[in-house]
Amino acid sequence: MSTSASAPPVLELDHVDAAYGPFRALFDVSLSIGPGAAVALVGANGAGKSTIARVATGLLPPSNGTVRIDGSDLTDRPTFEFARAGVAHAPEGRSTFATLTVNENLELAFRAARPKRDIAADLDSAYTLFPKLGDRKGQLAGTLSGGEQRMLALARVLVLRPRLLVADELSLGLAPIVTAEVYRVLAQVRSAGTALLVVEQHLDHALALADRVVVIQQGEIAFDGPPDQLGDLSANVLLPAGSPSRANPPACQP
Ligand SMILES: Nc1ncnc2c1ncn2[C@@H]1O[C@H](COP(=O)(O)OP(=O)(O)O)[C@@H](O)[C@H]1O
Ligand SMILES: [Mg+2]
Repeated sequence: MSTSASAPPVLELDHVDAAYGPFRALFDVSLSIGPGAAVALVGANGAGKSTIARVATGLLPPSNGTVRIDGSDLTDRPTFEFARAGVAHAPEGRSTFATLTVNENLELAFRAARPKRDIAADLDSAYTLFPKLGDRKGQLAGTLSGGEQRMLALARVLVLRPRLLVADELSLGLAPIVTAEVYRVLAQVRSAGTALLVVEQHLDHALALADRVVVIQQGEIAFDGPPDQLGDLSANVLLPAGSPSRANPPACQP
């Protein structure tokens, strides 16, 4: 996907702080993702990755700073306005209806998003993206494997062609072959124009997909640049700060 130099970023966090009550989780985070670009957001458990995902999708208003989607200031706006602007959130976990079939889960999502449209084409796209779901159309979502449930949750949002997909720990608990399948689909939606913010603890897939990697440590951005400049940090980003085996991180890029 070509990006226009004049187009504003799809997502722009500008000097964002965020807190849970008295606990401050993000400190002066600035991060932008251009149209169709892919950013891997990595860091140790508790570093603030999911908090950035929540701020980027409108679930958590920042305590300071600005959130823009396609140049529009959506700071403090409700989540549905982010969704309407094309921001999709694939949260950690499953987020499907266990007692509905695969087909019913997809129909519900597509009808809610486009009440006036014939959704047959949407269903076809979902099963083209994830052929395994097509084999399980009539099966109750609650009886799917963890990987199939993750695919179903993704299909519900991806068929709607979001401007930005914020995906949080997609590979968590998945078998390697399923993770590879999920990342194959992410690469596909990205080449169709969706920008990606991919939160991962497993670096390999995320770094292969992303053109930029952002490392977060204790609520602050420690690195923002191309994956091949990550250097020694790549071995250490998943260790908690202060760990004896952590190398000195390189300075943040300007
Ligand atoms: N709902 C919450 N209430 C209070 N503190 C939270 C909440 N969610 C996360 N935190 C804290 O904020 C920090 C960042 O958490 P999070 O963004 O979930 O980290 P990550 O996704 O990188 O593992 C952690 O110290 C975590 O304990
Ligand atoms: Mg998290």
